[in-house]
Amino acid sequence: MKDFVFHNSTKLIFGKDKEQLVGQESVAYGKKLLLHYGGGSIKESGLYDRVVQSLHEQDIEVFELGGVKPNPRVSLVREGVSLCKEHNIDFILAVGGGSVIDSAKAIAAGAKYDGDVWDFFTGKSTVKDCLPIGVVLTIPAAGSESSDGTVITNEDGLYKRATGHITMRPKFAILNPVLTYTLPSYQTACGITDMMAHILERYFTNEKNVELTDRLCEAALKTIINNAHTVLEDPTNYDARAEIMWSGTIAHNDLLGTGRIGDWASHDIEHEISGIYDIAHGAGLAIVFPAWMKYVYKHDINRFAQFANRVWDVEIDLNNLEKTALAGIQKTEQFFSSIGMPVTLKEANIGEEHFEEMAKKGTERGPLGNFVKLYEDDLIQIFHLAK
Ligand code: NZQ
Ligand code: ZN
Repeated sequence: MKDFVFHNSTKLIFGKDKEQLVGQESVAYGKKLLLHYGGGSIKESGLYDRVVQSLHEQDIEVFELGGVKPNPRVSLVREGVSLCKEHNIDFILAVGGGSVIDSAKAIAAGAKYDGDVWDFFTGKSTVKDCLPIGVVLTIPAAGSESSDGTVITNEDGLYKRATGHITMRPKFAILNPVLTYTLPSYQTACGITDMMAHILERYFTNEKNVELTDRLCEAALKTIINNAHTVLEDPTNYDARAEIMWSGTIAHNDLLGTGRIGDWASHDIEHEISGIYDIAHGAGLAIVFPAWMKYVYKHDINRFAQFANRVWDVEIDLNNLEKTALAGIQKTEQFFSSIGMPVTLKEANIGEEHFEEMAKKGTERGPLGNFVKLYEDDLIQIFHLAK
């Protein structure tokens, strides 16, 4: 096990009606607040009204910026940065999913910086400070509610890039599973895929002697798998929604990655796909992950066989571990398909036209992944496996 520091400072407030506490939690950070949200789901559900009321009860002055799109764009981030600077905003409240939270994080960093916020995503500058942010989460998926990273798309060149800093971690996140009842099944499934991918990225490591985190990963994966079909068939099942929501945060709050080095190539490859084709991140991962697994499993057949056995209950064939490993990959792919995800590029209407461009852009800052290092040619082969 590697040495590590685990410090996740986000206060998590979980349960029914907990969004009523948002005013109380926010006021600790000042009286001028930017309320950031997406395309309208929070207005349709009535959440917007409840949040605004709770903020007004604390005499908080509310500025608003809605319209965050899935795969959030830097143009809206720039607008948010100007708003924050113009009105001396103290605090940003993100009400929504990963896209809204990531947009809020980027605004929070840009508000404390004199240059262009995109500099943080190209490596021209690094984040040193951020405005504090808080979250009311409406979709369990990205784990951004307690992560220290953000992923933003630049319309100019269709680059989807990530950056992060410890000060980006939300001060609090309110998680009420009831707020996820209104999610369309496709978004629910995208979220499930993304959280599983966050665990898988950490699971496939070269680090030996990481039994506790292996087993925590396996338990979280099994919990998600056990509850996935329930939330899709019975969207107002509180218990199943709660399991999925808590799993989404645990999947990406860094606990499962302690003492080990995760891979993350599949995420980087997916970002190239959603950067160009604007598909949901979870759907992109359902396509990339099985292809990545097929490409790299020989690097550590034992680990893939362990995954097949412990997560998918595939019986270990000691005489043919490769068979066990491949069965686990097949089960993963079948599961994504069973919850309505595309598992090939074709199913997402994506052809071969940008394979070379995506492989080039994806590796222009060096090879991807840690479990196995992947170069431009490897990415092209993975795209072919995902066809
Ligand atoms: O915009 P609205 O109208 O709110 O609709 C959203 C959006 O269309 C809808 N939605 C959300 N909650 C809802 C709801 N509809 C009905 N009822 C609700 N309760 O769902 C759609 C998708 O929302 P989005 O925020 O895009 O989803 P998600 O949470 O999956 O976020 C995806 C983004 O997060 C990034 C991804 O790359 C992608 O851009 N990621 C961020 C990470 C991080 N910061 O740590 C890590 C992840 O790996 C990921 O890369
Ligand atoms: Zn993800």
